[in-house]
Amino acid sequence: MPEILNIPSDTLDKAEKYQSLIPQIKALVEGEKDFIANLSNIIAALKFGMNFFWVGVYFVKENELVLGPFQGPVACTRITYGKGVCGTSWMQKKTIIVPDVDKFPGHIACSSESKSEIVLPIFNNHEVAMILDIDSSELNTFDAIDQHYLEELTKLIETFFYRASL
Ligand code: SME
Repeated sequence: MPEILNIPSDTLDKAEKYQSLIPQIKALVEGEKDFIANLSNIIAALKFGMNFFWVGVYFVKENELVLGPFQGPVACTRITYGKGVCGTSWMQKKTIIVPDVDKFPGHIACSSESKSEIVLPIFNNHEVAMILDIDSSELNTFDAIDQHYLEELTKLIETFFYRASL
């Protein structure tokens, strides 16, 4: 059986890696309508395609974020609105890039190996429905390039909500 995902070569720069990965992710989810199956594959493709330390989502459930599909070490299960990077992204309804987690007031350390982080809200009907959280074991990993390509993926995930509502 051929590999389902071609891991981008280390010789590529970051933008080129995303450019190799994103069409593969779109192809992976295209023929499947199950939301959790697609989400799980997107997360695994990001974790192994980009070699991140931790990739996962939190679902907004009542007044908390609750852990969903992820790849990486065991993580905190629940996060309160406005707390940590994830709770802050939910409250501010915007992407947050944290170059050094030790310098983010209230950062929630699920693993001492996590050094920098990007957190993106995923919307359903203009409300935050989920949070995509990506951690790196290096400082200063994430920038506007990550934000650009990852927001393309959060928009793809948002279309699942649209599809589910049809
Ligand atoms: N660091 C996050 C918590 C989630 S873990 O990193 C998986 C935060 O401060 O919200």
